Amino acid sequence: MITVVLGMQWGDEGKGKIVDLAARRADYVVRFHGGNNAGHTVVIADKKFSFHLVPSGIFNPKTVAIIAGGTILDLEVLVGEMELLEKAGIKLKHKLVLSPRCHLILPYHKALDHAYENARGKNKLGTTGRGIGPTYADKVSYNGLRLYELLHWNTFVEKFTFQAGMKNKILTTFDVAPVDVKTELVKLKKFRTQLLPYIQDTYPILTAAIAKKKHMVLEGAHGSMLDTDWSPYPFATASNTLVGVVNIGGGIPIDKVDKVVGVVKAYLSRVGAGPVPTELFNNLAERIREKGAEYGTTTGRPRRIGWLDLEEVRFCRRLNSVSTIALTKLDILSGVSEIKVCVGYTMDGKKIHYSSCGYEELAKLTPVYKTFSGWKEDITKARKFTDLPKNCQTYVTFIESFVGIPLGLVSVGAERSANILAS
Ligand code: GDP
Ligand code: IMO
Ligand code: MG
Repeated sequence: MITVVLGMQWGDEGKGKIVDLAARRADYVVRFHGGNNAGHTVVIADKKFSFHLVPSGIFNPKTVAIIAGGTILDLEVLVGEMELLEKAGIKLKHKLVLSPRCHLILPYHKALDHAYENARGKNKLGTTGRGIGPTYADKVSYNGLRLYELLHWNTFVEKFTFQAGMKNKILTTFDVAPVDVKTELVKLKKFRTQLLPYIQDTYPILTAAIAKKKHMVLEGAHGSMLDTDWSPYPFATASNTLVGVVNIGGGIPIDKVDKVVGVVKAYLSRVGAGPVPTELFNNLAERIREKGAEYGTTTGRPRRIGWLDLEEVRFCRRLNSVSTIALTKLDILSGVSEIKVCVGYTMDGKKIHYSSCGYEELAKLTPVYKTFSGWKEDITKARKFTDLPKNCQTYVTFIESFVGIPLGLVSVGAERSANILAS
């Protein structure tokens, strides 16, 4: 059984929790794209863990965590995360495997990310500052370095020195301090020593797993609306985030995928710049942000808040062939007297679809809302659909029928067990 978990909005939908749950019986859990711009949270009992690179299902005892080739790695972040996991009692030997195909986020990528953002001034994109865009740019312009090069230290030193020399010229034009090649090589060599035991071709492992019909969970990062091609570019991340990336980044043939779980937050959040048609700018946004702890897992930035946009979600459902929805953070809407859901857009008096919108249209259009009466009750203890207040049931049922696929799970709290599962 191969399950893919994908975010259906602008990220932070609660994928970490859903991946951890889906991985309960998984033999493998796999990251296959993006980098440590991702921040995925898992809460078990009173313990909270934020994953940026290591797959979120690793806490499940028999699950092996694979970081496949589409993922880009900041070695310092990876080593730090591995140390935290070891401290938490997870023995990583034979439990974590890193593909040599993974490209590396190097110090000059982070410096360039900051330099470009500063240069954009008022038009800055609000990247996470983790060097993501410059790393993917190097990857497609044949300037990237991979874990593969790290296996061959002398080659790595030669290529790193050459690349750093080129990047330092650019950094200097931005009046940014160049990276110190010698100092960085000392650090990188230390990370190399720590990581060498984990580097192994992941393709044969995953191919054998498919042949033996093992259970596998593929952990999407970011969200479909941040996809580099299908977002209102440049308000995007630098990787593709749609289901097809399991093939490109993970080496998983698409026809082997059994199930695509689309994670949808019961309202929406966005970090960084770019138009969000249903964004709220009132006290309610503030209330939802505080109650939902909507602050970036990676950067700590306050997340922008909006009503659930089903026009956008339905587009993502079609793009990704989503089989089932996991609806998260429904508990956060308790106490909101009137809840709105966007069911379409109009512009200049005419209907317009998300798929035809660039950032100019998204900023200009008018969302069409359906309004629901809210509920006051705390729903965090609900474990069956019928435990939910009637108004809440109506809201959930509407989402399911509008999106047109079954809801497999409704999450009513951050903790692992706070769910209503479809019977
Ligand atoms: P991800 O990037 O999609 O994995 O999401 P994040 O971890 O960045 O943000 C989701 C946040 O919501 C985390 O703090 C989760 O612990 C929390 N969370 C997930 N599901 C629920 C839920 O149903 N209710 C509440 N209250 N919190 C949730
Ligand atoms: P998870 O996996 C929320 C956003 C950034 C910014 C844009 C580009 O936790 O859902 P980048 O650093 O990628 O070049 O920034 O993309 N972004 C995310 N927003 N959650 C994420 O990941 C994100 N990954 C990237 O905020 O707007
Ligand atoms: Mg996140």
